[in-house]
Amino acid sequence: MFGTKKKVPQIDKEQLELIKNAQMRIKQKKRLYTHFILFLIGSVALIVANLGLHIGETFKPLGKDWFIFIVGFWLIILIYHTFNVFVIDRFMGPTWQQDQLDKLVAKQKEGIEKLKTKLPATETAPTPPAIEKKKLNSKQNITLIVAASENNAIGKDNQLIWHLKDDLQRFKSLTSGHCIIMGRKTFESFPKPLPNRTHIVITTQQNYKVPHGVIVVHNIDDALDAALEDKTPFVIGGGEIYKQALPFANKIELTRVHDTFEADTHFPEINLKEWREIQNIYHPENEQNDHAFSFITYERF
Ligand SMILES: NC(=O)c1ccc[n+]([C@@H]2O[C@H](COP(=O)([O-])OP(=O)(O)OC[C@H]3O[C@@H](n4cnc5c(N)ncnc54)[C@H](OP(=O)(O)O)[C@@H]3O)[C@@H](O)[C@H]2O)c1
Repeated sequence: MFGTKKKVPQIDKEQLELIKNAQMRIKQKKRLYTHFILFLIGSVALIVANLGLHIGETFKPLGKDWFIFIVGFWLIILIYHTFNVFVIDRFMGPTWQQDQLDKLVAKQKEGIEKLKTKLPATETAPTPPAIEKKKLNSKQNITLIVAASENNAIGKDNQLIWHLKDDLQRFKSLTSGHCIIMGRKTFESFPKPLPNRTHIVITTQQNYKVPHGVIVVHNIDDALDAALEDKTPFVIGGGEIYKQALPFANKIELTRVHDTFEADTHFPEINLKEWREIQNIYHPENEQNDHAFSFITYERF
């Protein structure tokens, strides 16, 4: 039903020889064993015939019972057979074993040489860094969302530097319902977890205590894995985490605050060879926003 394809042998000549030899050796030993059993039964039968059934009772060559000669002769044949199997015909003896070992070593050497010839090719081939692999494999739209000044300042003393109501509203509307990935310091800058978002906090602290529902991880990879269910997870800062997450990101939602500030935390420089601006909306300063700013969206080329 599933076809009658002729089987192609998967083993090479030497393996075949090894198997044949092993089979022959088993046969040799089996024959010797059968011979031994026959000898035992035969000897007992001869003794019973001679001494029990009194067959040829009067025939006593050299004054001995006749069975002694037959059993003795048979024993010599059996010893010769044993000698043959374990000494003379021992084709799988030390020499043969050495031969096999030499063949095996030669084969291994051949394999190593083949590998060596392939090695330069693999050495010169550029190995993509783990970070790149992850980025390429990712089916997620990983977005960095940030408000940064003209000099890329984003925070000071673990706080935001400005008050921009529109920016906070935009942050809320973009991130609501999504995973938000952040560093431990940014998490601690909130009075309490933000509603309707899954918080993923990165820290080196193994026993870091968080409110119910907040996920704690210990590196950026695990943070992204924890957000796998979300097609659009947001990395919300701060400076350390933006830097580490930037290579994984496909999108940046930047609020560019049109001023310069003194700060202790900065956003990394956006390389315009890697990122293209797809949207730019300017907002002037007003009573609800301390500074003029632009909502700029970048996508990775
Ligand atoms: N303008 C904006 O849009 C914006 C957004 C967010 C934050 N901010 C500002 O940014 C500042 C905070 O940023 P930050 O750079 O100081 O801190 P952060 O990035 O929020 O958090 C840093 C902490 O994250 C943990 N961490 C970082 N990398 C890690 C790794 N690879 N493995 C394990 N844990 C890791 C460490 O926590 P442990 O020390 O516990 O190990 C580290 O101390 C604040 O001023 C905040 O207001 C601004």
